[in-house]
Amino acid sequence: MAKDTDSDPIPRHVAIIMDGNGRWAKARGRPRLFGHRAGARRVREIVESCPELGVKYLTIFAFSTENWKRTQVEVSGLMALFKKYLLTEIRDLCDNGVRVRFIGDRIRLEPALVSLMNELEEITKDNSTVNLTVALNYGGRDEVFRATKRLAQDVADRKLSPDAINEETLPKYLDTHFLPDPDLVIRTSGEARISGFLLWQSAYAEYEFIDTLWPDFTPDIFEHVLRNYGKRERRFGAVIA
Ligand code: FPP
Repeated sequence: MAKDTDSDPIPRHVAIIMDGNGRWAKARGRPRLFGHRAGARRVREIVESCPELGVKYLTIFAFSTENWKRTQVEVSGLMALFKKYLLTEIRDLCDNGVRVRFIGDRIRLEPALVSLMNELEEITKDNSTVNLTVALNYGGRDEVFRATKRLAQDVADRKLSPDAINEETLPKYLDTHFLPDPDLVIRTSGEARISGFLLWQSAYAEYEFIDTLWPDFTPDIFEHVLRNYGKRERRFGAVIA
């Protein structure tokens, strides 16, 4: 995506690492899945706030390639939550003009979940109010590695010349080929890590690490973070006189 040095007060594409569900539940003496369910309710509010706030693309990190290392109870609880969410809440979002797409490797996900993901992508494909992208079984290194494999196959098949590979080529092979690069990446819960989220795509993004736990992340807090972004000057490596 072409870059310029104009700073837009509202980020067009916001990516969020939704962290802190477990701690939120623990603080209430409840199991971790209680926190994930509260987090899922928050997703809906944040997506619904996007049109008014001027955010056109929202990408959320729901499950990483590392998250399989959690207990079996938590992993299967999360998968059940995703299925329920796709069946119920997100259908309402669709009626509000939300286009839903998924990034990540679908190979390890349950077929029933993958069918719902495919169906949702299909039924929302003509929506354009907000572009919601959900990262499920996503890892930034994993994505680059899968993209490189496909690119290498195209070179082997002589569909692509090695000389034609440049900064524009690899993004076409990434899961995010349909998205502009994120302008702002937010991580909740006070952790200052990116955990492999949109590694290539975030090269010029601004980052906001905020202390709020994801289930407490209200549209008001979201608006506040977006206003902070508006005050920053983005240079994309250039010097501004
Ligand atoms: C991180 O909190 C959160 C996750 C690994 C799951 C994110 C999932 C949701 C917000 C729920 C549903 C999402 C959709 C799209 C329906 P954590 O468990 O790492 O929290 P902790 O760091 O406090 O333990």
